[in-house]
Amino acid sequence: MGEPPGLQTATADEVARQVVALAVWAPSVHNTQPWWFRAAGQEISLHADTGRHLKIADPDGREMLISCGAALFTARLALRSLGYLPRTRLLPDPSEPALLARLSWPERAAATADELRLLREVRRRRTHRGGFDAVPLPPNLLAALREAVARDGATLRIVADDGRRAALSAAVQAAETAMRLDSARLRELADWAPEPGSPRRDGVPPTSYPARAEHTSPDFPGRDFAHGRGWGLPPFSSAAWPRTAGVVGLLTTAEDSPADWVQTGQALQRMLLTASTCGVAAALNSQPLELPWLRDYVRTQLSDNAYPQLVLRLGTVIQVAASVRRAPGDVLF
Ligand SMILES: Cc1cc2nc3c(=O)[nH]c(=O)nc-3n(C[C@H](O)[C@H](O)[C@H](O)COP(=O)(O)O)c2cc1C
Repeated sequence: MGEPPGLQTATADEVARQVVALAVWAPSVHNTQPWWFRAAGQEISLHADTGRHLKIADPDGREMLISCGAALFTARLALRSLGYLPRTRLLPDPSEPALLARLSWPERAAATADELRLLREVRRRRTHRGGFDAVPLPPNLLAALREAVARDGATLRIVADDGRRAALSAAVQAAETAMRLDSARLRELADWAPEPGSPRRDGVPPTSYPARAEHTSPDFPGRDFAHGRGWGLPPFSSAAWPRTAGVVGLLTTAEDSPADWVQTGQALQRMLLTASTCGVAAALNSQPLELPWLRDYVRTQLSDNAYPQLVLRLGTVIQVAASVRRAPGDVLF
């Protein structure tokens, strides 16, 4: 492998700009993009933007830190693509809880082919909201995903047994029903569901969810972003019916501290990008994990007492969803 291009000329400021321009494409809960970055010499620090924290859905900031962890992984991957070996100091520091990580790049090494493959998926990957085509996942993908998340200390548990799938589906349905009856939660969700044509660069736009919910058996209902207003993408005419729920799984951790949440985010993004290299998309159904009694149910009944951090479904589907992000200049200081 030769010397990566551009290394001699990139200033620390340019590196920081390129890193953040990619990191913003990480997934985040309700596309809140709850992060900001500070560049100082050859160091970028990652901070949680607590003004973007979902106070009702996510009172402990668990999903906020998972989102930031996904941005951290993407920032590290961006440094690799520029031919640097990132050095990561993971916080949080109890005296400064919003400061999550410091990244520096003291050494060089060209990116590997695997890293470049992940990198190509950063802008292409989209969250899927609906069912999947009835085709199996590529062989060995699940093993690769298990390995991918284990690198950051998380575990991918596939919920394959029919009874357990039904129980997890029931937990998602119960959570979704409870949320649709909770006006404070609905207001918070509406704050992150911009209307069609909105110039906003955050929140979940109607270009990223179907206007008509796609049901699967068992059913994993999505969030009600449109709230009965008919927003969303029209049905995709060549979609193969009926759709399946896909391969259902849980991303879990042995402990449940803020550091575990950041690591879960890193694991999530590595997993999503790895799946995306094989044309496999993920749908996320976090609703039951936002209600303590249902999160407890999932932990004790479906994940051997490990802490569930994400409910996800994996499958193959033609995606037409489009998302938005704030400009890097809005989050880099
Ligand atoms: C911690 C976390 C929880 C999420 N939960 C859900 C969810 O319950 N339902 C959903 O449709 N998307 C969920 N998402 C996906 C985000 O809505 C999505 O990442 C964001 O809108 C940006 O879109 P993109 O992933 O297509 O780039 C979640 C993402 C994260 C990081």
